[in-house]
Amino acid sequence: MGFLPAGALGVALHSQLADPAAAVFIERPGSLSGRALRAAGGVWVERAGERSFLDLRERFLPGLAAAGASGLPEMVLVCTNPDQLVPVLQDYVALITALAGDPQGDWVEAAPVLILCANGIYFQRLRQVLVELLEEGTLLGRLPDLWPDLMPRLVARLLRGVTIQTGLREGSGAEAVYRPGPPGLTRLAGGGTEIRAACVRRLAGLGLRVEDAGHLAPTRVEFDKAIVNLVSNFLGLIWGIDDRGGFRPLTVGEIYAEAHWPAITELAGAVLAVGRRVRAYRHETLEDLMALLRSTSVVHAPHVPSSIQRVENALARGVLRPGLPPTEVWLVEPLIKFARSSGLDAEAAYFESLKSRLEDRIAAACG
Ligand SMILES: NC(=O)c1ccc[n+]([C@@H]2O[C@H](COP(=O)([O-])OP(=O)(O)OC[C@H]3O[C@@H](n4cnc5c(N)ncnc54)[C@H](OP(=O)(O)O)[C@@H]3O)[C@@H](O)[C@H]2O)c1
Repeated sequence: MGFLPAGALGVALHSQLADPAAAVFIERPGSLSGRALRAAGGVWVERAGERSFLDLRERFLPGLAAAGASGLPEMVLVCTNPDQLVPVLQDYVALITALAGDPQGDWVEAAPVLILCANGIYFQRLRQVLVELLEEGTLLGRLPDLWPDLMPRLVARLLRGVTIQTGLREGSGAEAVYRPGPPGLTRLAGGGTEIRAACVRRLAGLGLRVEDAGHLAPTRVEFDKAIVNLVSNFLGLIWGIDDRGGFRPLTVGEIYAEAHWPAITELAGAVLAVGRRVRAYRHETLEDLMALLRSTSVVHAPHVPSSIQRVENALARGVLRPGLPPTEVWLVEPLIKFARSSGLDAEAAYFESLKSRLEDRIAAACG
């Protein structure tokens, strides 16, 4: 079992393991934070106000390809930001190339299953990127011809993990303190059906709260999470920052206050319209989406969404910068693109205005 990298989500999911020693952390190649954590030999974790050092010496791998066949985990939960996923796939293809170049038995099986856990709507696009990178390998003579048998087997090893974990990281580098939060459910979608079922069994056996999304397409599962994140990350921040940049961290209960429901319903309607066009949603109605949001608002009422906590921490440390964080970009940009390419001009304009309203608020908070 591997976690890539030791960020807030990776450390939080790791904390669910019954036997933490059974896992390794994998660095992103060239990552400065990865290098700092490896040099420190572990990370500081805080639970219920108690701080302890999670000793990870001998348990940091220097990237997928650099790890070599012998040290590879069976599965890797990829917990980077969404804008870091393409380099992770490049590293994965470098590993696959090395395995294919020196085959020991079934080299496809030796490649770990990758489970992409960053927030955002990206899985379909990234699966395409993986195919393109593998085909480029064949074109350049680094990989054998992968069609018709090997390519589907390799692509079946790329899964989506959509998680409601609420881990936080305060500070950076080796001084960072990690707060894992209570165990949150991770739903696995995409990839090969048997591989996914085996991952669910294996991860559950290791102690993770995990569920198979079954027949639901990864994009559908991404849309369900995106709508929850758009309310908490976008609307929650827009409502939590006033015109003059004053900031108040809102709880989920405050975000879902009675007066906000018309705006939340408008957002859900726009997501549903786009979701129907890209067939993420088929028979679902606005009431179905509102029911999903209502249950979120009840279950998580006292919780301050992690994106809001991140802004609060960045403000407190004077490191908040104008612009949207990568995860917010990967939530709203695909919706704008899908809306535009399906002729949903009103929805495209709605998501563009949502994006610029949040950019303006963050710029105001930066002062
Ligand atoms: N936190 C959660 O519980 C949670 C739950 C659901 C989804 N997600 C999603 O998962 C993705 C990653 O989120 P995250 O919360 O894990 O964010 P994070 O801690 O900020 O990790 C993201 C990136 O920050 C850098 N980083 C990691 N540890 C660091 C350290 N000690 N000092 C400085 N930089 C460090 C790494 O990039 P470099 O290699 O460039 O340093 C890492 O890839 C996001 O898309 C988020 O929305 C998170």
